[in-house]
Amino acid sequence: MQVTVERRRPTEVAADALIVNLFENEKPGEGLLGEVDRATGGVISRAVDLGEIKGKLHETALLIPSAGLAAPRLLVVGAGAEKDFSTDRARTVAGAAVRALRKRGVKRAALYLRGGLDAAAQAEAAAEGLVLATWEPGQYKTGKQKEEESQEVGEVSLVEPEASRAQAAEPAVQRGVVVSEAQNYARTLSNAPGNRLHPLDLANEARKLAELGLEVEVLERAQLEALGAGGILAVGGGSDHPPALALVRYRGAGEAPFLGLVGKGVTFDSGGISIKPAEHMEQMRMDMSGAAAVLGAMRAVGHLKPKTNVLGVIAAVENMPGGHSYRPGDVVTTLNGKTIEVLNTDAEGRIILADAVAYAQRQGAARLVDAATLTGAVVVALGHVATGVMGAPQDWVDRVMAAAKAVGERMWQLPLFDEYRDQIKSELADVSNSGGRPAGTITGALFIKEFVGEGVPWVHLDIAGTAWTEKESPYAAKGSTGVPLRTFVQLALEQG
Ligand code: BES
Ligand code: MN
Ligand code: ZN
Repeated sequence: MQVTVERRRPTEVAADALIVNLFENEKPGEGLLGEVDRATGGVISRAVDLGEIKGKLHETALLIPSAGLAAPRLLVVGAGAEKDFSTDRARTVAGAAVRALRKRGVKRAALYLRGGLDAAAQAEAAAEGLVLATWEPGQYKTGKQKEEESQEVGEVSLVEPEASRAQAAEPAVQRGVVVSEAQNYARTLSNAPGNRLHPLDLANEARKLAELGLEVEVLERAQLEALGAGGILAVGGGSDHPPALALVRYRGAGEAPFLGLVGKGVTFDSGGISIKPAEHMEQMRMDMSGAAAVLGAMRAVGHLKPKTNVLGVIAAVENMPGGHSYRPGDVVTTLNGKTIEVLNTDAEGRIILADAVAYAQRQGAARLVDAATLTGAVVVALGHVATGVMGAPQDWVDRVMAAAKAVGERMWQLPLFDEYRDQIKSELADVSNSGGRPAGTITGALFIKEFVGEGVPWVHLDIAGTAWTEKESPYAAKGSTGVPLRTFVQLALEQG
């Protein structure tokens, strides 16, 4: 989608549809909304009086005024209570509006969003909402169905009549488009079925980042053996599709320390020998959402070129049962020499992250954030609303959470009290890969912490509940969300 800024009065905008927002219990008054209303002979007032639109969040009404506007259609979108308007709402309101216009032959729309927020912040969020709203999971549809889904709005201008606001909006819109296109790319990857995206395909996605001037290194099986990445090799052993470890380096600040982003890239998680039940197993195609977010974030960073250093590392495997599978009871030696007793081959994410996190540090990452669809337990604790956050020291956790808040990704911290560590003690090895059912998300994080160096700031994001939504919202399709890509990019942009 193309998003531009247009400095014009809303009544004068030539597009297939003009979108205006309406706050709860608002009547078109003196301002430019009033001007649109008066020009159309009071069509908005009439819709409000008839109760066709009340201004409730994400509600829409499509009006066809007989005259008065350069655009033939007028879409009114509810923006909720005016006092609660925020950049998060600018994002979802813009998304809801453009989704309401799909499949109506609208190719070009114009959005006049009144909100009184900082012009750049509001425009950036709106641009993101517009681009994110276009994503659909039906990437494998063909023929008529595909045609139907591709009838999307291709071009939207953000109407900003005031010169200074329009000027501030320009670069913000560019940034918003880059970040949300990267997010859509991550969603498409995350949504890819196990038979369409194998571990080496994921690694090849990393290779493509070289086009943006990023340094890319992909380690395949032989190199992983030479390196001693026993965790990735063990988990990847049961699959006919070999594992890989990919590293992407962006250098925008000379010798400054690197922010390390690490992603779990399990292209399909059957559970391995500790095989999962059949019900919902198909959802395990999204078990590489952490890696997808890292790749997407590196892509956005490659376009935005901030003055900072960022390292992305993804561990790509398929977890399958087979004659070469790792087994419950096995002991695996990881990249940094630590040993893991495998109690459950379905707790595979933490094993590959052990190697990936160690490798990221060896390659210069001075602080870390990892993202992984790690535990079903986080869905029990936080549902599909918030990402589970764990880490140390607290000020690094606070920074990651603040970045998430700034970009509208919900996160909630869980504790890493010492007492939980007992659950992953092993008789045989340094650590066991399963702490059982109680506090499963926390013991998963404590396992990863074993592979983080003393004093290295580290945050683990358990996105098992948030990488994927089961229901469509007015502003987004169901399926992959791209979380936590925006937090990653925000951290990269504010680093230094
Ligand atoms: N990929 C799963 C976690 C998951 C569950 C992701 C639901 C998305 C939605 C992970 O590899 C897994 O199987 N975790 C186990 C760990 C247990 C065996 C310690 C789990 O959560 O049951
Ligand atoms: Mn698993
Ligand atoms: Zn998994």
